[in-house]
Amino acid sequence: AAAQGVAAGRVCLGEPQLWAAAAGSGCAVAVAHPNIALIKYWGKRDEEWVLPAADSLSLTLDVFPTTTGVRLAPQAAGDRVLLGGQEATGPAQARVADFLHLVRELAGRREPAVVDSRNTVPTGAGLASSASGFAALAVAAAAAYGLAADPAALSRLARRGSGSACRSLFGGFAQWHAALDAGGGAAADRVSLAEPVPAAAGLEVALVIVVVNAGPKAVSSRAAMRRTVATSPLYRPWVASSVQDLTQMRAALAAGDLNAVGEITERNALGMHATMLAARPAVRYLAPASLTALDAVLALRERGLAAYATMDAGPNVKVLCAAGQASQVAAALREAVPQASVVVARPGPGARLVAGDGR
Ligand code: ADP
Ligand code: DP6
Ligand code: CO
Repeated sequence: AAAQGVAAGRVCLGEPQLWAAAAGSGCAVAVAHPNIALIKYWGKRDEEWVLPAADSLSLTLDVFPTTTGVRLAPQAAGDRVLLGGQEATGPAQARVADFLHLVRELAGRREPAVVDSRNTVPTGAGLASSASGFAALAVAAAAAYGLAADPAALSRLARRGSGSACRSLFGGFAQWHAALDAGGGAAADRVSLAEPVPAAAGLEVALVIVVVNAGPKAVSSRAAMRRTVATSPLYRPWVASSVQDLTQMRAALAAGDLNAVGEITERNALGMHATMLAARPAVRYLAPASLTALDAVLALRERGLAAYATMDAGPNVKVLCAAGQASQVAAALREAVPQASVVVARPGPGARLVAGDGR
């Protein structure tokens, strides 16, 4: 297996040396963490290039890393993909193979590869496995195929695998530029990437993750946003309000105003779910336990705690709060939703190469 013998984070020689060692050598291993959007990406203006309808802004987490190894296999008939130790088939294999095809085109190479990827986050559950997954794959595949790439170029590349993945190249808060001014196609491709967003030094946040169902969603994020864009009468108004939310979010982060950050986060997410509920047919990710968690967040606010919810394409709830109150918030959520597993996350690092060796 490609990642054989390499434990995540164990090999750490410093990035420049690693890049030099791994470049074009045929084998590389990368780690990336999921990110959760405070201002959501929901809907593409260009499916082929994965260009979004609007900017989004996220927090990269320090939990649930994905480790991905890529090893070139010149003798193989085609790309082999292992996800969680199991041979991937169908759309999951095809999505990785399509991505490798793109990397090969950019690098001017032809050899197939073996990809061995392990998520620690539940896959397809609305906990951003496609973000950590394609961020790690972008970093590992670029190194294995000898594609010279800085974090900005890797962010653009990761975007082609899954839009949200472009933000996991960076730690902490990151903004993905929609690059509407650049139009579409190849011109926008060059400038649609994520960048770190500065926040006030005093803003110490945590994200309490309430896993009510770790199972895979019935409708993928990709299909759900496609249907929303095509059929929801609420979609365009939400995009317009999201543009304003983003401007206000930048100001709230710069000011270190946790209550403002939380209010904007919660309304942006609930608005996104409204667009899906109005799609035809409706896409509904909210489950009864999700609503129980949302009620618990309201109750926390009534007790005077700064706690605000966000949700992605799945039933799981993430609660933004002050780092110093995270254990209190987690305890309240465990009590309110006893069947859930509750994990406290803090801001985490960007994607990085952890190993590369010769063939
Ligand atoms: P999520 O909420 O988990 O991001 P998505 O619907 O966006 O759900 O994407 C899930 C899909 O992403 C999976 O079905 C698989 O095709 C792909 N994926 C998830 N993890 C990985 C990984 N580590 N490597 C490659 N592809 C992955
Ligand atoms: C609700 O990035 O998973 O989590 O680009 O089609 O792979 P594709 O979709 P994906 O969508 C994420 C949607 C979201 C919001 C967000 O992460 O911004
Ligand atoms: Co996803």
